[in-house]
Amino acid sequence: MSASVVSNPAATFRAGAFGNATALVCRECSATRELGPFYACDECFGPLEIRYDFPAVTRETIEAGPKNIWRYQSLLPVPTDIASSPNTEPGFTRLVKADNLARELGLRSLHVKDDSGNPTHSFKDRVVAIALSAARELDAKVFACPSTGNLANAVAAAGARAGIRTVVFIPHDLEPAKIQMTAVYGGALVAVRGSYDDVNRLASEIAGEEEGWAFVNVNVRPYYAEGSKTLAFEVAEQLGWRIPEQVVIPVASGSQLTKVDKGFQELIELGLVEDTPYTLFGAQAEGCSPVSQAFKAGHDVVRPVKPDTIAKSLAIGNPADGPYVLDIARRTGGAVEDVTDDEVREAILLLARTEGIFAETAGGVTVGTLKKLVDSGRLDPDRETVVFNTGDGLKTLDAVAGRVAPTATIDPSYPDFLSTGLV
Ligand SMILES: Cc1ncc(COP(=O)(O)O)c(C=O)c1O
Ligand SMILES: [Zn+2]
Repeated sequence: MSASVVSNPAATFRAGAFGNATALVCRECSATRELGPFYACDECFGPLEIRYDFPAVTRETIEAGPKNIWRYQSLLPVPTDIASSPNTEPGFTRLVKADNLARELGLRSLHVKDDSGNPTHSFKDRVVAIALSAARELDAKVFACPSTGNLANAVAAAGARAGIRTVVFIPHDLEPAKIQMTAVYGGALVAVRGSYDDVNRLASEIAGEEEGWAFVNVNVRPYYAEGSKTLAFEVAEQLGWRIPEQVVIPVASGSQLTKVDKGFQELIELGLVEDTPYTLFGAQAEGCSPVSQAFKAGHDVVRPVKPDTIAKSLAIGNPADGPYVLDIARRTGGAVEDVTDDEVREAILLLARTEGIFAETAGGVTVGTLKKLVDSGRLDPDRETVVFNTGDGLKTLDAVAGRVAPTATIDPSYPDFLSTGLV
């Protein structure tokens, strides 16, 4: 029998614990149920999503809010006083006008949404901030996750700041930087001899056995996932309250792409942006491309794979939201594409050289995929495009090691400098 994320499941939550959220709704069969520590549909085991009764929201009230994701508090399942409880205050990262990269790729208009600027240097701080709020409201005792690396960093940091016990599970062979960047925050870090999919299975088992454990991306996943909507909200706001025509988004579990779509839909529904057409593209590494393979084969289901790629942050072989990514890519006229590890490395260097942005391998995947989509004519070079960089290159230095080095190494003498040929 499964245990509960709340210590006392019969407890009632304080009024407004989940903001304007009103219920949980099944993505498969639309069955609804009350808000609480639930993540799978009782009728069909489909994933549950948050439903809201939004008040009137204006651009002005949002713009008057804090310069972080809490400016969108009324569109998230968090209480009105969320900004005052200890959290890492992620979001409102740069939207960089990427004219040099656009020129290089032959695009009319390109922006990079650079989420490496978050507190632990990836977009995961967004989703973790919402999960932390849910864990608090559900009175969870432990804040936990299985992670491909970035989520581990974000959970450990947010837990430290909030004063809640954290237990983070990772595959043992992650990049050293991601292991150290988790361990420094002082919580428990469990390295598991296995793949991410093994770690995820273990986490689900523990979540079912242990009372009071909030696994951010397992049993509080409906709340956690809503954090990715803030990427959509920010991009639209930063473009002057407009939805971009094309967006290239990395796909691991597929949650982020799914929620960027939900975010755009909610902005339209609320009248905050015009209802203009947009196309979403998913990006994967060839060595872990189950969603891209299903897209190309015309399948509705995603067959799990065993990952083998340098893009470890995206190395989820059995992606929970894969089928929804396929639906959205097809519905919006987009695609899901993949690139080789060499293309990932080249794309990291291309973005760094043209825009001064050092991306982790996930950013190499999106920029590499963008290039491939342009070259093959599937992404329209005349439509306004946004490409996501969701993590920081300092976390995956090995990806470019051997490709970059000092131009010259010299003694501190002027003749030596002249001998380099730099003047
Ligand atoms: C840097 C980075 N970008 C993108 C993703 C994709 O996230 P999702 O599981 O929501 O598809 C991840 C997932 O771990 C990540 O670490
Ligand atoms: Zn259902």
